Amino acid sequence: MSEHKDRVRWFWHPVDLYTFDKTRNSHPIFTRELLQQAANSRNLAQQTGYKSCILAKDLNGIDRVIWKPTLKSPAEGEVAHVNIQYLTYPEMTPELMGMGWNGVKCQLLRDYNSGSDLSNDEHLAVPIFLQTVHWKEVEDTSPNLIAVLNEWRPYCQDLKRSWQSSKMFDKFQKLFISHANDSVPIEKIVCFGLGDLVIGGKESIRQHLMIFTMAEALDSFYMSQDPRADLVQVILQDPGYSTLEHVIFSELAGRAITFVDDPDGILGIDRNSLVVAPHLPTSMPLMQIIADMFWEDLDKGPVGIISDNLGSIAGRKTFMIADRVTPRVETMLQSYREVWDRETLEEWMDLPATERDQPKRLRDAEWSLAENLVAWDYFRR
Ligand SMILES: C[S@@+](CC[C@H](N)C(=O)[O-])C[C@H]1O[C@@H](n2cnc3c(N)ncnc32)[C@H](O)[C@@H]1O
Repeated sequence: MSEHKDRVRWFWHPVDLYTFDKTRNSHPIFTRELLQQAANSRNLAQQTGYKSCILAKDLNGIDRVIWKPTLKSPAEGEVAHVNIQYLTYPEMTPELMGMGWNGVKCQLLRDYNSGSDLSNDEHLAVPIFLQTVHWKEVEDTSPNLIAVLNEWRPYCQDLKRSWQSSKMFDKFQKLFISHANDSVPIEKIVCFGLGDLVIGGKESIRQHLMIFTMAEALDSFYMSQDPRADLVQVILQDPGYSTLEHVIFSELAGRAITFVDDPDGILGIDRNSLVVAPHLPTSMPLMQIIADMFWEDLDKGPVGIISDNLGSIAGRKTFMIADRVTPRVETMLQSYREVWDRETLEEWMDLPATERDQPKRLRDAEWSLAENLVAWDYFRR
């Protein structure tokens, strides 16, 4: 079979997560301790001059290498970063691990742990590990960061003006506040994967603008109830950010925002947090992580979740890497009420009836986050 076919077969291979969970006595995998350990390992790996391998226990209690110092130095203009990699629940099952083509992440784990005693189908169930990557950052490739910033500034300000003068701007705030009004107070908006400027461009700027609008709307709302209320915190996590995004998005926000490295955004989630994660790759199993982190007491989980593809899995027995929702995520979502819906979105965007069954068009034509906000919003019951 060609590698492509193997890859597709592996990616879409259905596994029984109910049985997997049972064999583990339903113990959560992505605990806060594990994430904290990953953050500590990341700090260690980022230290220049740290030359030892980092080990951690896999799900079977075996010590595994989760990071190796790379011998390759960054090329001219490149910077070394340490990224966190997560295995999804399906990827951690012995069935998928032993299937042959193991996916890029699992291959990296195999490389880290290769040795004479590692068999081909060894179950390397390591939920979190690290990878060193080298990439060019705008400030390093550009002769002058100021020039690059000055190119983006007028474009961003234009988009901000057009957003603030759009008919959606007021409706969006009212709708959002009407849902926040029924909820536990939101003290933080924690965002994942809103995108960097170079790849995300206009979509990324618009998504960030909407988050800043949400924060301002919440500030006004809470201050109308108590003038001493604290400002809502905005926390942004995306491994694609560089100095360019830090400067541009801080200016656009007009308020203090916090940029964090993975997994610090996840560790910052608490019951007063609204989580926003539109179109994250499913290889980053954020919903599975959140469900596990709060498994012992789901009431302590985030006040709301805005994501995509969180549809019900009722009646399904098997799950694939491409699934955001697993049985544990479904259980978590049961303590949330789904707010808004596609009909509201269509009305809101005044779409002609002929375009109503073309959701993709909504994304192209309008605000992709608006689509998420309306179609996939969950607030705690
Ligand atoms: C498909 S893009 C989505 C961009 C935008 N939110 C949208 O809706 O079009 C996925 C984004 O997720 C980011 N991402 C990947 N892994 C991540 C992680 N561990 N934490 C936060 N963001 C991550 C990528 O850098 C990228 O910007």
